[in-house]
Amino acid sequence: MIRFDYHFPIRIHFGQGCFEETLKKELSKYDKTVMLAYGGGSLKHTGLYDRIVALLTEAGKTVVDFAGIMPNPTYKKVQEGARIAREQKVDLILAVGGGSVSDCCKIISAQARLDADIWDYEYSERKLPTDFIPMGVVVTASGTGSEQNNGAVITHEERKQKSALWGAFADFAILDPDLTKTVPMRQVVSGAFDTLSHCMETYFGNPHATNVSDEINEAIQRNVIQNLRAIIANPDDDHARSELMWDSAMGENGILKLGKQTDFQCHMLEHQLGAYTDCNHGQGLAVLHSVLYKHIYKNAPEKFNRWAQEVWSLRNAEEGIDALEKFIREVGLPTKLSEMGLKLDEDTTRAIAESTVITLGCCKQLTAEELCEILNECK
Ligand code: NZQ
Ligand code: ZN
Repeated sequence: MIRFDYHFPIRIHFGQGCFEETLKKELSKYDKTVMLAYGGGSLKHTGLYDRIVALLTEAGKTVVDFAGIMPNPTYKKVQEGARIAREQKVDLILAVGGGSVSDCCKIISAQARLDADIWDYEYSERKLPTDFIPMGVVVTASGTGSEQNNGAVITHEERKQKSALWGAFADFAILDPDLTKTVPMRQVVSGAFDTLSHCMETYFGNPHATNVSDEINEAIQRNVIQNLRAIIANPDDDHARSELMWDSAMGENGILKLGKQTDFQCHMLEHQLGAYTDCNHGQGLAVLHSVLYKHIYKNAPEKFNRWAQEVWSLRNAEEGIDALEKFIREVGLPTKLSEMGLKLDEDTTRAIAESTVITLGCCKQLTAEELCEILNECK
């Protein structure tokens, strides 16, 4: 185990049907002005918007509406939200949505209390924000586990970068699986695959000697695979839906990362693919993962063999990677960029590869050249 300090500051409310009761309790702890932040339209279609506005009104809050946070949220949207939050003197940001809404709000919360441009502050000045507007998250689509940490993935359109920024930890997060029942199955699958990816990206990081975090991780991976199959077979399977929601949280609440350096090379490549194409995160990962693993597994043979045995009940790394690829097809995810409607020309392929962060925790330090090869093999 590598040395660590662990502190988890978020109050988690989990369970089917817990949403109204727990939100009411939480709202009573905050001052009057609440920014209700959400995505592109699902909140109103599902009726959840009206339910939340009713709860806010009943609690005597003034509602500042902030709509239109897009999948792959942009830096421009962050700045718009921060300006409104500042002008309206918002006391609480209530983020209602999936990873995109939660990510955007974490940075709004920080930028609203910071004079400097937060991108420059974090990337050029190498500083982290310390003052935040309090924030709460109501999760309506699980998979990213974004509500569990203070990292956010934001697309800076002018810089052509989709990168991590560090913002607020939510004070509280409400995980009510019932709220995810309207998520289209395609997005349920994409989200669950993202969870599996987070687990694998953590598992294969250094050191490779298996520790207790890895053993818990193997259980979570098996659980995601089993419950994703179950929910595809029966979308009314509440047990599977709940399990996937908690798997998503476990992937990103830090527990699996204790005593490890994570890998996340596949994520870095997918994020840049997203910066250039605005593609769906889980689908991008699905295309890249097994191809990337074929390039790196020989650098950590024992770990990949163990993974094949413990997660897939197979004999060795090659069989495990093959099983992963088959699973991706089985659940209806793409295995080629062309299946996502993406056609990358040579210049774009190179630009994506060259702008991808190379992670220290990956068992093989990839070059831009090899990342190009990986992208070409994915076409
Ligand atoms: O925008 P609306 O209309 O609300 O529709 C959304 C969106 O189109 C829809 N949706 C959400 N809840 C729904 C629903 N539709 C019907 N019923 C509901 N209850 O789902 C679509 C996708 O939402 P989005 O939030 O974009 O998806 P996801 O949760 O997969 O988040 C993806 C973003 O999270 C980042 C990704 O890079 C991407 O930008 N990630 C954040 C991480 C983190 N902070 O820890 C980790 C991840 O690796 C990831 O990179
Ligand atoms: Zn992810």
